[in-house]
Amino acid sequence: MTVTTEAPVKETPDAGGVPSFQVTMRLRRFNPESDTEPRWEDHTLTMHGTDRVLDALHKIKWEIDGSLTFRRSCAHGICGSDAMRINGRNRLACKTLLKDLPLDKPISVEPIKGLAVMKDLVVDMEPFYAAYKSIMPFLITTGNDPSRERRQSPEERERFDDTTKCILCAACTTSCPVYWSDGQYFGPQAIVGAHRFIFDSRDEGAEERLEILNDREGVWRCRTTFNCTDACPRGIEVTKAIQEVKQALLFRRV
Ligand code: SF4
Ligand code: F3S
Ligand code: FES
Repeated sequence: MTVTTEAPVKETPDAGGVPSFQVTMRLRRFNPESDTEPRWEDHTLTMHGTDRVLDALHKIKWEIDGSLTFRRSCAHGICGSDAMRINGRNRLACKTLLKDLPLDKPISVEPIKGLAVMKDLVVDMEPFYAAYKSIMPFLITTGNDPSRERRQSPEERERFDDTTKCILCAACTTSCPVYWSDGQYFGPQAIVGAHRFIFDSRDEGAEERLEILNDREGVWRCRTTFNCTDACPRGIEVTKAIQEVKQALLFRRV
């Protein structure tokens, strides 16, 4: 285990009046060119009350070790690129304040589970995207193109509002024990993606999508564990959406 430590600083106001504190980040590192297996690495940093896990990772990358590899883009919970396992729970690094985590012990940061690690905190997202693509995440209609917009009442729009909020971060799918077991299960995100169209009154592809999810690796593999709902940074009721797709399959009334 590698350990780096900055000069010790107690919880005191810094020059800007923002309290600073020390935190140890315990990172799961893996370089496919030099490591045969992942290893842990500790860095003790001085951070501030408004800092997030992403800020700590930036500090390590920009000031200590430029080889640290992780994905991030928007830094504001929109792009979904920085889902990682923080203290054993899937979260977005940019939405997790350090001060909300127990600071008396190291904060562990690992790649999300169930997908192959490419380097450090970066996993191969292709199987996740493949599952999403398989449910055809686009509006399916028949007939001629309309000459005006496709109308929808507020109630019809509300029916699938929750699942429109997905940012494809994979926190749900990679928190699911069924997905960890063999990686064949479509995973909760693909079902959320299907739900968004199955219950859209303008869409005509519900039957086709339901048939895809009726697969042996589809909705019936869900064991209602709720990890996915707990993990979703957008607050989507993932397990409820899965249950609604199961019911739609049972009753074929969508
Ligand atoms: Fe992320 Fe939530 Fe979408 Fe899953 S449902 S991919 S946790 S935003
Ligand atoms: Fe997995 Fe969520 Fe079902 S965690 S088992 S998809 S409720
Ligand atoms: Fe975009 Fe965190 S960096 S969601």
